[in-house]
Parts: sequence; structure tokens; C-alpha cells
Amino acid sequence: MRIALIIPAAGVGKRFSKDGVVPKQYIQLLGHPVIYHAVKAFLPHVDYIQPVGDPDTLNFILLPLDSKKILSPIHGGKERQDSVRAGLEALSSLPEDQQPDIVLVHDGARPNISAEIIHRVVDALKDYPAAIPAIPVAETLKRNKDNIIEETVSRDGLFRAQTPQGFHFKPFLEVHRKAAGSSATDDAALFEDVGLKVALVQGDENNIKLTYQEDLKRLECLMSNVMLPRIG
Ligand code: CTP
Ligand code: MG
Repeated sequence: MRIALIIPAAGVGKRFSKDGVVPKQYIQLLGHPVIYHAVKAFLPHVDYIQPVGDPDTLNFILLPLDSKKILSPIHGGKERQDSVRAGLEALSSLPEDQQPDIVLVHDGARPNISAEIIHRVVDALKDYPAAIPAIPVAETLKRNKDNIIEETVSRDGLFRAQTPQGFHFKPFLEVHRKAAGSSATDDAALFEDVGLKVALVQGDENNIKLTYQEDLKRLECLMSNVMLPRIG
């Protein structure tokens, strides 16, 4: 079974930094750019990695990993979904006998990824066409209107989706092509929309996506094994 990873890294990180000089996936974290950590963690578990983002920057960052598994980086698109589709099209242009059976999609801005999560997603793909890691919502949820609470929303059955999200390659390519032009915030939504089953596997509180400035300190502590009081 051939496994490919698409790693979207073409965002500008508006929530992380107002000036957006260096997108968050390229900033330094414990001596390496954020995306370097993510790619390094996946290398033993996949056959190909397709980075999607600025090719010059990505070539420079990923060169020290010196791996033939890393394909030439390609430009992304306006929305995350466009960037993932660009990655899929690149994989579909490989010779038929080299195309993957399974595609994982992992945010370039999510550097603290464990082998256990990757294995859980890949294992679930033996039984389901798609699988994602998620964690149950812990806090009470409120709907806000003009800073006044409108209602309390039940958190029963609600989960927070993470990556890597895994898919069988052919149906994934097909749903992505059909959905071109829409903008889902994750890939599983495209499968859900056409009624294909997406399995939920256990995620990890520490699999944080760098979104806001505060996340950087927390990732630095987690990844340098400094004990922090648990949040949440
Ligand atoms: N991404 C991408 N192409 C886009 C938008 C996002 O490849 N057009 C990537 C980001 O680089 C990131 C991942 O998708 O690795 C998750 O997206 P998100 O955290 O939303 O990143 P940004 O869109 O860059 O951040 P923001 O929404 O705050 O602007
Ligand atoms: Mg975004």
C-alpha cells in the first residue's frame, strides 16, 4: 500500500501575525522552521511527501532532510482547499503505477505530530474510505450575538477536527475536483457532503495547530519536553 502525504503550506497566517512578513509555517521553532518538524515526523511513515507552498522557500527549508521521498514543492492556491487540490493533481500526474493508494493531508503549521496518530488514521483506512483524528469538546459552548450570549449549545457528540486526515486516493481526487471553487476548512467535509463515511479516531491535545501567537510558546514548551500545566 503506497501512502502519500500532502502538506499544505501556502497560507499567510492572518490570525498569527498582522504584518504577515514571514508566514507562520516558516518561522523558527526550536532551531528549525515549523514545517520542517512536521515533514520530518512523517518521513518514516509515508512513501511520498508533496509540499505545497512557495517552492523556493520550501526547497531551502527541506533540503537538509535530504530525502528522495520529498517531491518538488508546488505553488498553492487562494484557499486551503485549492492548495490541497493542487497537491492531489500533482500526485495524479505521477505514472499510474506510482500513484498512491492513500493520501494523508497534514497542516504545515502543525509541527507536534506523533507516530501514534499517524498509525491510528492509516489503520482506520483499512475499513473506511476516510478517517480523521479529533478530540471531544471540553468546554461549555455559547452562541454570541453582539457580546451577549444568545444560547448555550449542547456539546454532546461535538469533536474538534485535527490533521492528518486520511483518504483513499481515487475518491478523494474525484470529490476535490467536483468541489473546486467551494472552500471547506477541512478535507473530510468534502467526503461528508457526498455521503461517504469518515471515521473518527482519537486525536491528541498536543497536536496543536499554530494559529495565534500564544500557540508558539506552548509548542516550544511541549516540543522541548518542558512540563506545562495542561490546558483544558
Ligand atoms: N493553507 C494553504 N493554502 C491556503 C491557506 C492555508 O496551504 N490558501 C495552509 C496553511 O499554510 C496551513 C494550513 O493550510 O499550513 C492550515 O490553515 P490555517 O491554519 O488556516 O493557515 P492560514 O490560512 O495561513 O492562517 P489564517 O487562516 O489565520 O490566515
Ligand atoms: Mg486559514
